Amino acid sequence: MICEKTESFIVGTIMEQNWQYFLSYICFHFAYLMSNFSLVRYLLCATGLTLLISAFFNTLSISCKGRGVLVTGCDTGFGHELAKKLHSYGFTVFAGCLDGKSNGAIRLKRLVDVTSQEGVDKALQYVEANLPEHGLWGLVNNAGQSSSPGFLEWTPMKVYEKVMAVNVFGVIRVTNAFLPLIRKSQGRIVNVSSILARTLSPFSGSYTITKNVIDAYTTILRLEMKRFNVKVVVVEPGNFMTATNFSTCNGQGGFAFNSRRMWDQLDEKIQNDYGKDCLERQIFVAEKLVEMSEGEPSYVVDAMASGIRRLYPKNRYFIASISEKMMAWSMQYLPLCISDLLVAGIESHTIPIAIVPYIKYIVLVPSFIILLLLAAGLRTIGA
Ligand SMILES: NC(=O)c1ccc[n+]([C@@H]2O[C@H](COP(=O)([O-])OP(=O)(O)OC[C@H]3O[C@@H](n4cnc5c(N)ncnc54)[C@H](OP(=O)(O)O)[C@@H]3O)[C@@H](O)[C@H]2O)c1
Repeated sequence: MICEKTESFIVGTIMEQNWQYFLSYICFHFAYLMSNFSLVRYLLCATGLTLLISAFFNTLSISCKGRGVLVTGCDTGFGHELAKKLHSYGFTVFAGCLDGKSNGAIRLKRLVDVTSQEGVDKALQYVEANLPEHGLWGLVNNAGQSSSPGFLEWTPMKVYEKVMAVNVFGVIRVTNAFLPLIRKSQGRIVNVSSILARTLSPFSGSYTITKNVIDAYTTILRLEMKRFNVKVVVVEPGNFMTATNFSTCNGQGGFAFNSRRMWDQLDEKIQNDYGKDCLERQIFVAEKLVEMSEGEPSYVVDAMASGIRRLYPKNRYFIASISEKMMAWSMQYLPLCISDLLVAGIESHTIPIAIVPYIKYIVLVPSFIILLLLAAGLRTIGA
């Protein structure tokens, strides 16, 4: 843990999210270019103004000095980077690590196993004894366990139990332990879900289930904590597998290794029902997804830091590439018969996995047509 006491100050500013200023400039520019006062012109001005106001509020930050933040899972990945970032802003960071010998733990010096009530109680005692001037402001439930990829039926109970123990019960245990401190400071809780909570794709079921639970848990906690003025935020990272230790299944071999091991332990009858080529197809898709992953963890780390530092944080930070977002939104909003076909197509290689990054262009075509129709409609009503 890094602990230091520093003076507090009032509100600062964050110079991020410049794209909102840019978009509002574009809106005003087009409104200016229009010759007469039309409905479209008013709409553009209203959009520009909304973007401008929201960009302004997004720049407001709380004072970091003298406020504590606990981050779990800081040995590697997002958690490690976040602990360093929050420390650089002036927060007092309590960085929980699992493995005493990991590089992260050597730098940050404290262990918290989120699956152990005793470990969490000890961490609470330590934090209480070393609270900075303004108390514990934030908790980031980042610690997570990926699971060996495999169909739900292939997955042994002990894998479900392990991944649930860290990703679900760990989050609830740590949150319950530290909530009284967070409530006292009217602070923040940031939970880490995943894009998989939206896409619900097969072969990563045991992990996906846990992230769906966290999504629901965060929403309920957000509503319950409103009365105490505690903000609860969820960060949903897309595919950042190469940016962290995630695809190594927390250092226990890669996806392919783990899936094949799971397959080898399967009952022969189940193996015959699915067929080995099914396993190889899934491994191929999983490996392609690892190849396609975003290598830069800073987008996710910035979102987590915004959840803690912004005066008005968003409720959700969905941090993914445009193609992943398009994919996720298609899965969420397209009729099930179409989205199921899409998943089945990718699984059976009827739709080549290589086209997934280009799906945005496929989705952009209908969006463009809708915009054109809208514009034509506005013209007809004389706007
Ligand atoms: N990377 C992605 O693509 C991605 C996408 C969506 C969501 N996420 C989520 O982002 C979060 C951070 O993951 P990451 O990508 O940074 O992977 P990571 O590098 O594997 O980090 C996970 C961290 O959690 C720690 N941890 C595991 N079990 C723990 C326990 N029982 N108690 C305390 N700490 C424990 C790990 O420690 P050890 O290394 O010592 O095991 C590791 O430091 C996770 O919640 C994950 O589900 C990641």
